[in-house]
Amino acid sequence: MLKSHDLIVSAAQRYVRENMLEDYTGHDYLHVERVWKTAKHIAQECGANSTIVELAALFHDISDYKLNGGNENTGPEIARQWISSNTGAIDIADTVARIIRDIPFKGAKSIDDREPSIEAQCVQDADRLDAIGAIGIARAFAFGAAFKQPMMSEDIKPVLHESFDEYKKKNGTTVNHFHEKLLLLKDRMNTPIGRRIAEKRHAFMMDFLANLSNETGIAVAD
Ligand code: ADP
Ligand code: NI
Repeated sequence: MLKSHDLIVSAAQRYVRENMLEDYTGHDYLHVERVWKTAKHIAQECGANSTIVELAALFHDISDYKLNGGNENTGPEIARQWISSNTGAIDIADTVARIIRDIPFKGAKSIDDREPSIEAQCVQDADRLDAIGAIGIARAFAFGAAFKQPMMSEDIKPVLHESFDEYKKKNGTTVNHFHEKLLLLKDRMNTPIGRRIAEKRHAFMMDFLANLSNETGIAVAD
């Protein structure tokens, strides 16, 4: 671990917190804090580089394409510049920027062709765990409301997107998002510990959807 690890990480934390307090889409600073904590835990189990993992977790949503008008390069570039100008460690800055670019979900049928680094696997699992279970349900409905998306509809069917471009253009319901992404995540976890936590959170979402179907009379569970 770098001698200055704690100093760099706490400066990054302050920067990210200041820039992410105002958010109502489920991408607020508390999401980052949860991902950071979970990623650290997974990294310890997997023997990943903690400086890379912690910086990537802290910066991973600094400017998400879903919220910044569609630019996927802005977030990685902000992280790269902050890290290189505050630490001088160009290699760490480039590695973290690449992780931030690589980890987002890119569609049900869009499978990454490159094996992610162990550090990317830790951050991706931590981010995905925060998209499922009780917190995942809460975040999905917050996101849907912020984007004025219907909660559910019998007329709009889920789509398993073939490519990232198709996924980015999607225009559906929040309940469909469970079928298009959230329910697929448990089988796409990278690490054994991520898979274990995901199993429980997945079961909770299945229960939620079954109850939602029963209470509304709208078939949303399949
Ligand atoms: P990723 O980088 O994999 O997209 P994020 O940390 O940006 O992950 O968070 C994605 C979360 O945002 C989703 O899991 C969900 O909670 C929310 N979200 C994204 N798109 C939608 C959508 N169309 N409807 C409801 N929630 C959504
Ligand atoms: Ni995130």
